[in-house]
Amino acid sequence: MVSAAHVKESRTTHIHSAIAIAFSFSGLTRLGCMETREHPFPTPFRSGMGSDVRALLLRDNPRKWRWADVDGDGIARGPVHVLIAEWTEKDAESPISDVDEKVFCVIRVENDPCSFRKIEGETEEKLHEAFGFRDGLAQPVIQGLRQDDGVGLSKAKAEAGPLYEDRVVSPGEFILGYRNEYDELAYCPNVEGWTESGRAKHPGGRFALNGSYLAVRQIEQDVAAFDAFRALHGKEVCEKMMGRQVTGLPLGWDPNKPMSDSKADAFRFRVEDANGFTCPKGSHIRRVNPRDTLGVDVQSSIKSTKLHRLLRRGRPYREESNGETRKGIFFIACNADLERQFEFIQQRWVRNPSFVNLHADDPFVGSSDPKTFPKSFSMPGLASGEEVSLATFTATLGGGYFFLPGIAALNFIVGNESALKSAASEVAEAAVS
Ligand code: HEM
Repeated sequence: MVSAAHVKESRTTHIHSAIAIAFSFSGLTRLGCMETREHPFPTPFRSGMGSDVRALLLRDNPRKWRWADVDGDGIARGPVHVLIAEWTEKDAESPISDVDEKVFCVIRVENDPCSFRKIEGETEEKLHEAFGFRDGLAQPVIQGLRQDDGVGLSKAKAEAGPLYEDRVVSPGEFILGYRNEYDELAYCPNVEGWTESGRAKHPGGRFALNGSYLAVRQIEQDVAAFDAFRALHGKEVCEKMMGRQVTGLPLGWDPNKPMSDSKADAFRFRVEDANGFTCPKGSHIRRVNPRDTLGVDVQSSIKSTKLHRLLRRGRPYREESNGETRKGIFFIACNADLERQFEFIQQRWVRNPSFVNLHADDPFVGSSDPKTFPKSFSMPGLASGEEVSLATFTATLGGGYFFLPGIAALNFIVGNESALKSAASEVAEAAVS
């Protein structure tokens, strides 16, 4: 486990491996962390992404999933209690190699080693998802998190210019207990017995302080179907659907002029591309971050957009099964308010079949069944015509909501030895019987 202090040290000391650990609601309960009546966990986290009510809101069908954070009819494996994300340097030993698979039900997802690669004209290896697009580019910047050391932050600011401010978001949008975009302290749930240095008396000093929620989805990508689509319609149509060039550059920008990630995230839609002639309104990136097109004017739109941002990590994975290689993305979105952030984006934008009157949901991660609702994508101004029919390129294989504790809360969970032992023996007994 790497703490904030280690991360600071990492500027001078090399880190060889890191682990992040997060718990579903049933995981916390099983480990003896019972929510208090006064400060319970929020409803989406308590009910779980795989629950019937969330499935309805998110237009999901967990009955077809391999795993979920809840136990349910037709869900192959659940409830998943713990999420462990591990990073090790190439060839470094895994710090969690001793997980007892007789006691824990392990769903292991390996990174796709081909996802970091150089593409033509580039000097560094960069992350690409399975359909071939550069990923991990656009991100909110947490206000006050990085100090301006005169090099890194000033450079990013100088490259992006005044539009840098469009992505600076209050810490409480991602970290519980801090001020959010409403200028309120992000709500912190509490658990029985939490007395960390007596800070429970402080309004921000509850169990969840410094923690966050992760919305996690395992999404399989049908690379063969997408390649066939690209062969038929061409790269330009695919880029319109994503809303970015394959290299990550915004649409309409000179492909021969590579630029920093900070600069490539500094653009707006409203004035120059109000009708989506360059970046279609229904494209993936314009749906999930409408930037300056949400309210009555640019400033109010940017303020509104900041209420629906996610810190995203899309980890491309691959697995071999029956001699076949299957690829996908392990999507992790960090946010402080699951309803206002992840769920809003998924329900109102990604899977809204009447988003901006388009009669179509997201070209990559929409949920509509092509048999009952033809999947299509509108591209105003494209010579080949206005609309193309789409195949289904992705399928959700699993999902869950997890609480990512701060260091003090994690120590509290780990320190609760009797609960840990009884949980382990309960699981072992269940495995034997
Ligand atoms: C197979 C699934 C997915 C693929 C292949 C995918 C791919 C991409 C790519 C290539 C980008 C542009 C690169 C970047 O800005 O970093 C992007 C951006 C983004 N995606 Fe996805 N994505 C997937 C699923 C999702 C889902 C399920 C959500 C949310 C519910 C989502 C939310 C976002 C957001 C918020 C951005 C940043 C947009 C911006 O700020 O301009 N993605 N995605």
